[in-house]
Amino acid sequence: MNILKLLARLFARKKPKEIIIEEEKLPERVSVMNAIGNSSPKGGIGKTTIQLESGVQLIMRGKEIVFIDWDIMSPRLSLRLLKDLGEGPSLVKVLIGEVDILSAVRETTITGRRGSVTINVVPAVTNDDIPGNINRLLEEMNDPSKVIQTVDKMKNAVETLAKRYDVVFNDYPVPSWAAYYTYQRLLSRTSSWLNLLSDSSPNMIKLIGQLHERYTKNIPVLGTVVNMVRPNLDEINKAKEYVLDLCQKVNGRVAMVVPFDGKLYDVFAGGLASPASLNYTPESSPALLQIKRFVDYIEAAIENRIDVHCETLVPTF
Ligand SMILES: Nc1ncnc2c1ncn2[C@@H]1O[C@H](COP(=O)(O)OP(=O)(O)O)[C@@H](O)[C@H]1O
Ligand SMILES: [Mg+2]
Repeated sequence: MNILKLLARLFARKKPKEIIIEEEKLPERVSVMNAIGNSSPKGGIGKTTIQLESGVQLIMRGKEIVFIDWDIMSPRLSLRLLKDLGEGPSLVKVLIGEVDILSAVRETTITGRRGSVTINVVPAVTNDDIPGNINRLLEEMNDPSKVIQTVDKMKNAVETLAKRYDVVFNDYPVPSWAAYYTYQRLLSRTSSWLNLLSDSSPNMIKLIGQLHERYTKNIPVLGTVVNMVRPNLDEINKAKEYVLDLCQKVNGRVAMVVPFDGKLYDVFAGGLASPASLNYTPESSPALLQIKRFVDYIEAAIENRIDVHCETLVPTF
């Protein structure tokens, strides 16, 4: 071979091997019926709050539930329930394969004025995950050759918990465009039911319908929820119309309006409040009353015996 050709071959740029992720290769939706997730493109809309109050009310009805805090960057549910993240098993460690999901469940007792409950929670992250384990997980999620494995671990974790507990609540983070594909995969592989949450602006409702159509259509919608509605008749009626529209579009089971209610607001200068369901009766809190009504449908959904279409749950004054 002539020397020039040899040099050319030696210094030729090696083309990176293309890795294509085919959606078909990704694992299917969870095989269980009792994993519920709240989703919304808007942050601070009440995903965590509504889920936590629903969960506490289910515990008060004798159900065994577990929360998975999927919000690694803002583990608010873990902070609210555990106060301090501490060290040890966490969702991050489960996803990088260091611990199994059952050993990551923490039992914590939460007390309010009306009593106390024991809550099971998988904390998203603990202090010893920062920054090493978090970085490792993020790298794996961004590596096309590893993301399938990671999503599979997510799905397996949910299925394992769903067999052990009556309900698994997935407390998801807010999606960001930078990780939208990962977010969408997370939702569509870890929940058997989704609740779609919105505020009462018509544009937000429309956007949520479009996003569901594009990305999460494969998961049945349990509830469409408009939260934090100003508590007057006019606003409630408008919210009812919008939430019903969305429900019909996504073929949901329940369309619910939850009013803005100071008793649900969890921030105090002294720290985050215990769940409102442990401090107030549903009869004294219009928002809790709505959540109590919704919990009946959660119970039916997890037992796969829900046969309503867009039943409306609207507060009365
Ligand atoms: N219906 C409501 N009325 C009043 N405050 C609410 C209501 N729903 C949620 N909140 C408050 O709004 C804030 C954001 O709720 P959160 O559940 O953390 O939202 P997300 O999980 O969607 O980011 C919290 O401080 C919560 O207590
Ligand atoms: Mg949240």
